[in-house]
Amino acid sequence: MLLVGLGAVATTTIAGVMAIRKGLALPIGSLTQMGTIRLGKRTEGRTPRIKDFAPLVDLDNIVFGGWDIFEEDCYAAARTAGVLEASQLDAIRSELEAIRPMPAVFDQRYVKRLQGPNVKTGKNKRDLADQVVADIEKFKKDNGCDRLVMIWTGSTEVFMKQSEVHATLANFEKGLEESSDAIPSSMVYAYAALSLGIPFANAAPNLTADVPAMLELAAKNKVPLAGNDMKTGQTLIKTVIAPGLKARMLGVRGWYSTNILGNRDGEVLDDPESFKTKEESKKSALDYIFQPQLYPELYGNLDHVVRINYYPPRGDNKEGWDNIDLFGWLGYPMQLKINFLCRDSILAAPIVLDSALFLDLAKRAGMSGPQEWLSFYYKAPMHAPEVYPEHDLFIQLMKLKNTLRYMMGEELITHLGREYYD
Ligand SMILES: NC(=O)c1ccc[n+]([C@@H]2O[C@H](COP(=O)([O-])OP(=O)(O)OC[C@H]3O[C@@H](n4cnc5c(N)ncnc54)[C@H](O)[C@@H]3O)[C@@H](O)[C@H]2O)c1
Repeated sequence: MLLVGLGAVATTTIAGVMAIRKGLALPIGSLTQMGTIRLGKRTEGRTPRIKDFAPLVDLDNIVFGGWDIFEEDCYAAARTAGVLEASQLDAIRSELEAIRPMPAVFDQRYVKRLQGPNVKTGKNKRDLADQVVADIEKFKKDNGCDRLVMIWTGSTEVFMKQSEVHATLANFEKGLEESSDAIPSSMVYAYAALSLGIPFANAAPNLTADVPAMLELAAKNKVPLAGNDMKTGQTLIKTVIAPGLKARMLGVRGWYSTNILGNRDGEVLDDPESFKTKEESKKSALDYIFQPQLYPELYGNLDHVVRINYYPPRGDNKEGWDNIDLFGWLGYPMQLKINFLCRDSILAAPIVLDSALFLDLAKRAGMSGPQEWLSFYYKAPMHAPEVYPEHDLFIQLMKLKNTLRYMMGEELITHLGREYYD
């Protein structure tokens, strides 16, 4: 598993997998490790664990590697991130110390608040992509890997719009030669992965692999993709609560969300251009769940505000507040307040793991392009241009499990259930 950006999320994922395989902790929050799947009728009593049902890679067989602009090994990086306790990290210290970041493709133009020494130089972006390809090939050989997956767990880059450079693979490759400004660092990594047929997921909201040029390359090389931006704290709760309110046809006039967080991600998001990327990603969920075009009386006039405030004392322990102004029968107003004291990387790590395992499975199953069934994990799910993205967590879960049943030749579950009563 190759992780681009060995910060809080990546090191929490890696250290977590190491602790779990030593039997020191449980993979809580991971659907692949803890989740079950019902097969057949409710009367059959067949409910295996997902990992026993689908041929997922065993945690013991994963090796980790990655890139970062800082030279710290994974033990030091995990200590800096301050997510996991020192005593827990010390139990796996030597394994973590053995993972040292490869020099990064980085340009401060795309992440304004960071600067680091462990950065590649090259004559143009094509040269940098070739260097990443060489890193990947070396990693694969040194570690004797059969297959690879790559996940962008790097910082949120500045907001970018799709442009001509992203329109076709030919344009993109020309852009690499010319070191076009429209190609941020994350795209250089994604291009390298897709060129080698390696599945790629984007855990951040950047415009990375979700542009026509990358989709063309993914189709050409038959590579599955997933993203964008992991659905962890506030948005996870939003996509749980909003479908519930909508199911009961309760109206919503306003949804105000604010967060404080103090980790490096918070610092990067303090830059307005990186925040804009995050904001766009966070705001889309409600529009799609509420479908104001179908329910103008209930959701046509909704004010949705999202704020993120960098507040160092909290570190990785984010606090989110939501105020929901809703209304019921005859329009009478009500309020719902949610105060989530969560841990960012603790919620994110199982998503990185599950995405990697499912993408590897998808690749082996011959599936390529955006894997909509992995929308479950993402705030701004990749989707075909002709359909709107599905944000409702429960529909997403049904889709994910049905996709697994489909892959494994099991009957799909429709929840019709007439057979129990006929
Ligand atoms: N934790 C969550 O709940 C959550 C949820 C959704 C998305 N995300 C996103 O995941 C990403 C990682 O979050 P984090 O908390 O680990 O942040 P972090 O700042 O701790 O780690 C990011 C790492 O990426 C490195 N980096 C930046 N640009 C790079 C490049 N071009 N090449 C290699 N390394 C690079 C940084 O040096 C840093 O070490 C962020 O974009 C964040 O927005 C996090």
